[in-house]
Parts: sequence; structure tokens; C-alpha cells
Amino acid sequence: MRGRDVMKSKKELYPVSDTAALVMLWASEYYRTKPLTRAYVNGLDLSSGEELLRCYDRICPWYHEVIINRKHFISQTVQALTVKDDSPVTIVNLGAGFSPLALEMVPLLSDTRRVIEIDLAGMRRKHELYEELVPEQSGWISCIEADITEPGALMDALLPEQDGTGLPRLIVVMEGLTYYIRRSGMEQILDTLSSLSLSQSIVFEHLKPCRLISDERRFIPYEIFSHVRDHIAYDQMTTYSRDEIPAMLSPAFTCRYYDMSDMERQRIGGTRYFPTADSGWLSCAVAERGALSKPV
Ligand SMILES: C[S@@+](CC[C@H](N)C(=O)[O-])C[C@H]1O[C@@H](n2cnc3c(N)ncnc32)[C@H](O)[C@@H]1O
Repeated sequence: MRGRDVMKSKKELYPVSDTAALVMLWASEYYRTKPLTRAYVNGLDLSSGEELLRCYDRICPWYHEVIINRKHFISQTVQALTVKDDSPVTIVNLGAGFSPLALEMVPLLSDTRRVIEIDLAGMRRKHELYEELVPEQSGWISCIEADITEPGALMDALLPEQDGTGLPRLIVVMEGLTYYIRRSGMEQILDTLSSLSLSQSIVFEHLKPCRLISDERRFIPYEIFSHVRDHIAYDQMTTYSRDEIPAMLSPAFTCRYYDMSDMERQRIGGTRYFPTADSGWLSCAVAERGALSKPV
């Protein structure tokens, strides 16, 4: 294992808020299969998410499968996009929360392959955890606190990476984020990113509208996301259909699309919980633009 395991007493563990802890608890089986992410999770106090986990387990006892499929798919996609050529690349994880995607990328990182994680809060402590775990590689990872819906703040977070010729190739990850950003805010984010670098890939994970989910399954996202929405006092969750995503991007982007059934197939080699495209509610578009946009 690289770095030292973060062996801490309960009172030294970093306390994570309930909704963020919930995602980490759902994904814990996935993180525990890898030494670095296991050590990272061991440094967090996820107890605040246990009540929400029990509540959502009553609605769907296998919901962790959704999160693990999503995390596996996004990690594999970002790795493939990163190594598809030798050009300098910056992976930008927007609304990164406590997701340790940067740790999964560590074997690929270098002076010219970097990661920037952005969230509203908690990023300084997150970087300290990375410094403890991967002291040699943590310099290639930046953890920045900013509101990504403010164009100036997003530019400021990304511009230090600029070398005078524009940002290097960008791989932008939006995982577990797009439901919490209004459509106008998302268009603003995509415009800002677009102005920064010609060559970019965007991994856009999103919630589908109810009408695109089968009758038997619709109650699961409806009950869980309504509860989350009320819990965080948000007025509505933003959903996207497959066609709405390329429509927000310039025509220079090519888009591939993956339903949860595709993500499950990629992870386990078959279908178990998601036999059809409409049996899932979270999907992922992978949009690419630029001279280097041959599909991975
Ligand atoms: C459900 S969490 C997902 C975390 C992580 N991406 C994952 O999938 O495990 C959503 C994250 O988006 C962040 N977020 C929401 N709005 C944001 C904004 N305007 N600027 C930056 N981060 C934001 C939240 O703080 C939260 O950490």
C-alpha cells in the first residue's frame, strides 16, 4: 500500500455531514476493496449518515448497488480518458464532496496529470487526509473551496493551472451533483468550462425524469430524492433526459450515453438489478470535444 494507513481513534476521525456520510456508507463496500480508499474511509466518521441509511434501506435495501455501479463506471471512464494519449490533462471533480476519486487516480498522476477537486466546504481537511495517505503524490491534487455556480470563483479555481496557452485537456466529473444545481446554473458552469479549454471531456451523471423510469421502479427515486430534498431544504431536484444534455453543449461535442443497466453490465459482466434501460434512474453522459476526442 502507498502511504500510511490512517489509524485514528474515534475522536480523531473527521466528522462528515449526514448526506455526504450516506453516500460514503453506500459506497463503502467498493472503497474497502482498495487499500488506499479503504485507509481514507477509515479516517472518516460516517456515523451521522447511519440514520438516513436505515431509512433508505427500508425503501430499497440494495440501493448501494446503484452507487457502486456509478462509482465503478466513473472511475473506469476517467482512467480511460486520462491515459488515452500523452497530452497534459487536468481532472476536475466538481462537487467532489468526500469522494476519494483522486486517490483512485494516484497511479496515473504526474506533473502533467493533475486533479482539482472543488466543493463548497471541507476541502482543506480532505487535502490533509491525502497528504497523510500519499505524501509524494498529494502535490498533484488540489482541493479547493468554491461555489461552482459563480463563474468568477470557478475560473479562479481553475486558472492557476493555466500555462499561458490555455488550460491543458480537461476531464470534468460531475457525480452526484447535477440534481442540486439549477438548469440555468448548469448552463453557466458549462459555458465557463467551455471558455477555458478547447479539448475537454465531461462525465455528466444525472437523475432521469420520472416518466423515463419504469412503473415498478419509479417509487424508489421518488421516495428517496423527495426525502433528501426536504432534508436539505431544497425546493426541487433537477432532472435531465438523454437529449437535453447535448442540447446544453456546443455542437462540437460528441456524446455517449450510459444507463444504469450499462454501468451494471460494465461492472459485473451481466445484469442483476437493472435488466432494462428504464429500470434505472441515474444515468451518465460522456461528452467529448477537441482534436483528441477519439472515443475511449
Ligand atoms: C451528493 S454530494 C456528491 C459528492 C461526490 N461527488 C460523490 O458523488 O460522492 C454533492 C456535493 O455537491 C456539492 N455542491 C453542491 N452545490 C455546489 C456548488 N454550488 N459548488 C460546489 N459544490 C457544490 C455539495 O457540497 C456536495 O458535497
